[in-house]
Amino acid sequence: MEHIPMCINGEWIEGEDKITVYNPSTGKPLVTITNATYAQIDDAVRIANEAFEGEEWRNVKPFERGQLLVELAQFIRQNAEHFAKLESLDVGKPLQQAHADVEAAARYFEFYGGAADKVMGDTIPIEDGIFNAVVLEPIGVTVHIVPWNYPIQIMSRSVAAAIATGNAVIVKSAEDTPLTTHEIVKWLNARLPKGIIQHVTGFGKDVGAYLSSHPGIHQITFTGSVPTGIAVMQAAAKNIVPVTLELGGKSPNVVFADANEELALEGVMRAIIQNAGQTCSAGARLLIEKSYKEIFCAKLVERFQQIRIGAGEQNLDMGPVLNANQLKKITTLLELAQRDGKVLIGGKPLRVENYENGYYVEPTIVDGLDVTHPLAVEEIFGPILTVFTFETVEEAIQLANSTDYGLVAGVWTRDIDVAHFMASRIKAGQVFINNYGAAGGIQMPFGGYKKSGIGREKGLVAMRNYTQMKNIAIRYNVQGR
Ligand code: NAI
Ligand code: MG
Repeated sequence: MEHIPMCINGEWIEGEDKITVYNPSTGKPLVTITNATYAQIDDAVRIANEAFEGEEWRNVKPFERGQLLVELAQFIRQNAEHFAKLESLDVGKPLQQAHADVEAAARYFEFYGGAADKVMGDTIPIEDGIFNAVVLEPIGVTVHIVPWNYPIQIMSRSVAAAIATGNAVIVKSAEDTPLTTHEIVKWLNARLPKGIIQHVTGFGKDVGAYLSSHPGIHQITFTGSVPTGIAVMQAAAKNIVPVTLELGGKSPNVVFADANEELALEGVMRAIIQNAGQTCSAGARLLIEKSYKEIFCAKLVERFQQIRIGAGEQNLDMGPVLNANQLKKITTLLELAQRDGKVLIGGKPLRVENYENGYYVEPTIVDGLDVTHPLAVEEIFGPILTVFTFETVEEAIQLANSTDYGLVAGVWTRDIDVAHFMASRIKAGQVFINNYGAAGGIQMPFGGYKKSGIGREKGLVAMRNYTQMKNIAIRYNVQGR
């Protein structure tokens, strides 16, 4: 079986302690990776600091960093087929969804590449005889802890911004999904000064925890679960290291009776079945105006019946979930749904012919749950939609805001007053009116209210995560010269 080595100090490190990575579509082993040792992580951090302080990296001009990232975007596009295949093998997602992720990754490198020489400071008038400037410097060694649901996209969005701003980057890919990160690091490592890009692999509780508590790092970007986000933040707190956390959600799609039905049906369905529901911004709750519920839900069930499920390579509408653990977590919740609610469609794991050992689950709609039920408030990370009704705009807002999360929300209505009012009252980092996701949104700030996280990724604003702000005040005086 192929082994995916780590990249430390420009070299490819095999390591002793091996972890097997599985293909979610087949349940079969795919490759192995290394569970990095603490000594290897210490090496990576020390080398990153040396590379960051070194003349070679300092002498690369911002526009040159940008050009390199734009070239990487071109490389990704030229090899889109290859990248999509790797991502689909690793995560299980249908090829066409993997293709969309690969294109988004290219867009991130292109976007931040273009912005690399536009990170500008300020001058502030103080008084005659003082010149005051605010400069933005790279922050230092940045750590990127990447989850398994959108490996290439989530890695690219933060790594691109960090390199564009001149940092030394250490990526830790998720133990389930190393493949596309490895390929991108390979390309960057061949072109950047040694140690500016490094890739360490291994279990979160070992490698991730040690890396986030390391006194030699200067910033952490983490995407994943709330408990792990708390652990990362606590570890970073010991060293006063800033964190950018994107911790998922329980995002609502709020559908009013005057919605464009076709758009709303399609939007609500896609928002929960994309990547088999394993999306931070999945539209996991349908909040529907009571008078419209029966008609809308009946039509939604019809659509769910048409969803074709299969292996990534079969390229259907929905693939498997990530692994046996995820399937078990989802199955347990589905049993709760059968017990406490009314399952309108789905509700069980699924056998896919010729892929009997893959981790498949039926797309599911559950009605009749209490708003405090675990399925109504916890992030499930599976293709499970829970339904709740409202009668007034106030009720809709209250329901939309009724979880600890606040990442994204969709609102479907033709009433411009309702749309604006909802947008202003929903506590979420992104609100979409009559769409959900707006084509990926590379340029839009993305992040959470409440437990959905701290800080923003994507967009120009994310470059601030990777810069230090310095104020320089210069007194000038020509008297007595
Ligand atoms: P996780 O949050 O534990 O893992 C995400 C990343 O963090 C992985 O790279 C992992 O190796 C690393 N990690 C784990 N423990 C760590 C620690 N103590 N210190 C530093 N890094 C650590 O999520 P997991 O266990 O893979 O999935 C469990 C649930 O988390 C999912 O069912 C889902 O609800 C949620 N999740 C949310 C994501 C999102 O996009 N917001 C992404 C992945 C998971
Ligand atoms: Mg895998």
